[in-house]
Amino acid sequence: MSELVRIDGMIDPHTHLRDLDWAHKATFASETRAAVAGGYWAVFDMPNTPPNTVDAASLALKLERLAATAACDYGVYLGASQVDNSAAVAQLADDACGLKIFNNATTGNLLIEDQDLRRRFYQRWPAHRPIAVHAEEDTILDLLTLVRETRKPTHFLHISTAREVAHLRAAKEEGLPVTLGVCPHHLYLTQHDEAALKGFGLMKPTLKTPADRDALWQAITDGVVDVIESDHAPHTRAEKESDRPPYGVPGLETNLPLMLTAVHERAIPLERAAAMLSANVRRIWGVACPPDTYTLVDLDAAYTLDSRRLHSACGWSPFDGMRVRGRVVATWIRGQRVYDGEAVTPLAQPQNLFKAVA
Ligand code: DOR
Ligand code: ZN
Repeated sequence: MSELVRIDGMIDPHTHLRDLDWAHKATFASETRAAVAGGYWAVFDMPNTPPNTVDAASLALKLERLAATAACDYGVYLGASQVDNSAAVAQLADDACGLKIFNNATTGNLLIEDQDLRRRFYQRWPAHRPIAVHAEEDTILDLLTLVRETRKPTHFLHISTAREVAHLRAAKEEGLPVTLGVCPHHLYLTQHDEAALKGFGLMKPTLKTPADRDALWQAITDGVVDVIESDHAPHTRAEKESDRPPYGVPGLETNLPLMLTAVHERAIPLERAAAMLSANVRRIWGVACPPDTYTLVDLDAAYTLDSRRLHSACGWSPFDGMRVRGRVVATWIRGQRVYDGEAVTPLAQPQNLFKAVA
């Protein structure tokens, strides 16, 4: 007998949807279809796709295209840029899900290494929307200094090492307003998989040691990890097979099955796994689950992840061939069934979850 379980209002707060000038990699339509097939109600899109989401015009362009083509609800991050746009983005905060600051090198050109410039963003950005930071290793300490100075709620994205976990565990004990997210690729893969995966195993933060992976699982067990996020970042097969593959892997359609597999195999309580994919995200970003918005999963379904069955435009996955247990059988958003376990029916009226109060 298969057991059907309901998870309310799943959100991925860390997605790179592409489209716009990177429509050759993926589109809002293709990746939000992947999102609902992965069980998600909403996704929050990162600002590093050209044209970067760093001012009123680029935000308006993205929101307009999402409203016209998204298959699910969404939020959009504004990006901190090297040419100081801290005043401009602060003005636009109500329409965005948060501010993203890239503090270590990765895909795109939004890197900020100047601590004084970071500080200006922290001072100007309003406290009612989280600041989400890409900060690796001791860069985390630089950001924690700013959190300590300004008390601005900060979400530390894609934490991948034991040392990083230790920094954030201490920050939480200190009472700082910080949360952290972990990606399934850092939970299931290590640097030992890089030789086989080649470009398809390359992302930022990179894959780490088995000891780091174990520390992430321990942090989940201890309740230190708030969010499981995808860092869904599709690139074409040709780009990944090239001499200089770009960073990033897809994840929207594999996050939930991989976490349900952990419920079976690692004794992670189902409630904890579900909360990290839904209720915790809603709490951190301050959004309420609309009525009749949930995912139905078959907890027992055992199968092999097959990248040919994925909806993402990229058509590959670093998890291809992995045995998992737990399958999405339906996704409902505001009373509309947008996924029936096979086919996607895009949401009739996709909405930005973050709107200025008129
Ligand atoms: O692997 C990554 N890919 N990490 C990032 O921080 C950015 C992302 C992308 O946009 O490709
Ligand atoms: Zn990312």
